[in-house]
Amino acid sequence: MGKQSTPVTDKKRIGNFVLKPPVNNNITNAIKIEDPQLRQMVVGATTRLDLWVNFLRAANARTVLEVGIWKADFTKHLLQECDAIKRYYMLDPWAHLPDWDKPLNLKQELLDRAYEESVQKTEFAAAKRVVLRGRTREMIGSIPDDSLDFAYIDGDHTLRGITIDLIKVLPKIKMDGFIGGDDFAKNVWQHPSHYEPTLVCPFSVYFAEAMELPIVALPFDQFLMQKRADACFSFTDTTGVYKDLSIKKLSSGWANISPIWWAKHTLKKAGLLR
Ligand SMILES: C[S@@+](CC[C@H](N)C(=O)[O-])C[C@H]1O[C@@H](n2cnc3c(N)ncnc32)[C@H](O)[C@@H]1O
Repeated sequence: MGKQSTPVTDKKRIGNFVLKPPVNNNITNAIKIEDPQLRQMVVGATTRLDLWVNFLRAANARTVLEVGIWKADFTKHLLQECDAIKRYYMLDPWAHLPDWDKPLNLKQELLDRAYEESVQKTEFAAAKRVVLRGRTREMIGSIPDDSLDFAYIDGDHTLRGITIDLIKVLPKIKMDGFIGGDDFAKNVWQHPSHYEPTLVCPFSVYFAEAMELPIVALPFDQFLMQKRADACFSFTDTTGVYKDLSIKKLSSGWANISPIWWAKHTLKKAGLLR
């Protein structure tokens, strides 16, 4: 899929990060981001949930982190559909945050309810789940380095949030493991313009470039990057909608989207509206 990656030395050093070659990393089915298997999985998916279930099965992911849980609908679905998952970290503050300017920063009472709902919904997998209530920076230390097959980033999508999440999560991923994420939106005004813009796109691509890793844009506003010692940076767009990643382009046009448009877009992404 996409560009050929050039083999590099057996060890990469980028800033403070050293990407070591795989050592017994327990990924029994180490797929590569450029495998045709991955493209088939993408083409066949009809919803975001479908896409990640297919992917996690193909990758045989056992240890998973989700950053940003909300009411655990995604969590529940993955835990139900992906038998190979043995440990699932659920990381979310479920707290009203004084410095997070996004629509889901609701009253504490509602967030407490979302937390309780999340715990209830995943009770059937209590032996597998690890609930980490707090922000990424506060809780990431509970996860061992090089231990995750897959992390799904779906928390604070502002520039601050995605920067912190990607920098903090990468060292936790096993070699050949993956980071996926939501809200790789092609317009930074994903929410009405009185909120902070969403900058998962293009920041994730710049991060992959800085870390010399391959990254792929997927349907339903999703992205996927792989922690690899034997690959260079490449950006592959499977959707054809991310031709120009300049902020000038990504911030043009929809600065005043209506709440109705936003509701429809959200329902379409969830597969609830055609
Ligand atoms: C879009 S929702 C997550 C949706 C969920 N992943 C799903 O697919 O159903 C975003 C969540 O991110 C959480 N969040 C906000 N800031 C965060 C941070 N700094 N670290 C981790 N989670 C955060 C919010 O509390 C909220 O529940």
